[in-house]
Amino acid sequence: MKFTTIIGAAVSATMAFAATFASANDFRIGLITPPSHIWTKAADSFGAALNDASGGAHTLTVFPARQLGNEAQMLQQLQTGALDMAFLTVAEVSNRAPDFGAFYAPYLANDIAHAGRILRTDAAGAMLDQLPGKVGVVGLGYGMAGLRQIVSRGEVATAADLSGLKLRITPFDPILDFYNAVGAAPTPMPLPAVYDALANGQVDAIDMDAELIWKLKYYEHADTVLASNHMMFPMVGLVSAKVWKGLSDEDKAMITTAMQAELGKVIDTYVAKDVEWLDQVRSTGKTFVDVGPEFFGPAIAEWDAAWSQKSSQLGTLRDAAAAVQ
Ligand code: BEZ
Repeated sequence: MKFTTIIGAAVSATMAFAATFASANDFRIGLITPPSHIWTKAADSFGAALNDASGGAHTLTVFPARQLGNEAQMLQQLQTGALDMAFLTVAEVSNRAPDFGAFYAPYLANDIAHAGRILRTDAAGAMLDQLPGKVGVVGLGYGMAGLRQIVSRGEVATAADLSGLKLRITPFDPILDFYNAVGAAPTPMPLPAVYDALANGQVDAIDMDAELIWKLKYYEHADTVLASNHMMFPMVGLVSAKVWKGLSDEDKAMITTAMQAELGKVIDTYVAKDVEWLDQVRSTGKTFVDVGPEFFGPAIAEWDAAWSQKSSQLGTLRDAAAAVQ
């Protein structure tokens, strides 16, 4: 082989190595949920799938349980590019982009399967388009937790019994408005603080999903479980817009495919299991009351009136929900 050919081959090999090296990433993803939670397991699986699809070039380190801060702090880190990705509650996103408050319209979803279908509509998908401009993040798709229920330390037979109760909520406006309309005293509190707060009576009641009521045994510190199914609780898979800008089209497609597959499985899991978890709580012998929209009386119309002003997407999402009944 001539010398120039050898040099040429060496240069090509170096360039190929550099190209591989340049596109290799150790991404970081943050969540508030504990390591055993379905969302965190989905992040683990997403990392494995991404590593596989990239032939080992990309790795993903998962930071669960608020190791990187609360959701507001993680959203800030995504904006600056200090954090690459996160699975966050849509609740947190709605604090920055109020249009997302439309997902929390009471009884938008008839049941958990309907909630899953709503999240897969084009209308829901199109809402993600505003995230890069408004929040500095790219939304790749939705996951979810179950529908929301109420667990109370005292007996609750009517909505009047919720009046004045210190009722734990996830910190975001749509649910704050709902419980204010109900007449409770909504108490914003992040997930990790909930167990102790309920156990020691710092709050009288909590707003929570069936999975955690069952698995974290919140019901043990309660007298009444109100199976109200009053709201859906979407999650969103996010990538920092700053990080996204620096990725190749190939990597963007790889990340999108792998993340959407895992988020879809999260939705499927809750659709399959939500009613079962609630039935397990029902079988504990706690006072268990099934209620529907009528239980909340005028609070629902009050919420609708307020949020038809605050979210431009409420009507669109209602139409989309009706189309996938
Ligand atoms: C909550 O705030 O209740 C919550 C947050 C993330 C996952 C599930 C529940």
